[in-house]
Amino acid sequence: MPRGHFITFEGLDGSGKTTQIRRLAAWLERRGHATVVTRQPGGTATGDRIREILLDARNAHLAPTTEVTLMFAARAQTIEEVIHPALDAGKIVLCDRFTDSSEAYQGGGRELGSETILDLHRLVCGNLQPDLTILLLPSFEASLARARRRNSRDEAQTGKNEGRFETEQDAFYGRVWEKYREIAEREPERVERIEGDLPIDEVHEQIVEIVAERLVLAGRES
Ligand code: TYD
Repeated sequence: MPRGHFITFEGLDGSGKTTQIRRLAAWLERRGHATVVTRQPGGTATGDRIREILLDARNAHLAPTTEVTLMFAARAQTIEEVIHPALDAGKIVLCDRFTDSSEAYQGGGRELGSETILDLHRLVCGNLQPDLTILLLPSFEASLARARRRNSRDEAQTGKNEGRFETEQDAFYGRVWEKYREIAEREPERVERIEGDLPIDEVHEQIVEIVAERLVLAGRES
């Protein structure tokens, strides 16, 4: 059984990852590729409980080192329970955020630096690398406006404020944005950027083109 494919999606809050993952999963399934969709933090029963701590706006006091180790704890569980078994079974794994998020948000945003994150990744994740990372980069302003709007709407509906990150200042997000660009420039063979405020369908077309090309290269497309 050939090993599956590991594809991650990255970008600022409100960059449209979730919609694009759903669309790509449907496209892959229609072509007969067994696909597993998961997300970070979360994606397992334990990970979802960790996610609640991380996103709850009431936990404003969380130390950056607590935050980053909880992110990695949730990730370790997803790797063990979801990602490795799916790849071993030859499936395509689509993961909403992975270690690049920790590097961008905790390494950049919280200023812990890249080295700390990459060291943790080696220690905790066995240095598992995505085969491909799609980095969505609509404009900074559009992403944040969408994320904050969504957070207020969700809070009105559920009474829970899961927007601990959305309440961060623009300067924090500026550092996250810069770190994402740095990662993309450092690893162009893994990270594909899709830039600009494009219609959803157009972004989907670009993603499909990238993925089809990569699958052909790996000899998996029939
Ligand atoms: P989520 O609701 O998944 O946001 P989105 O749908 O916009 O991706 O919330 C995840 C939040 O956690 C998001 O603000 C980014 C942050 N995060 C980190 O700070 N570090 C990480 O390692 C991960 C995986 C996420």
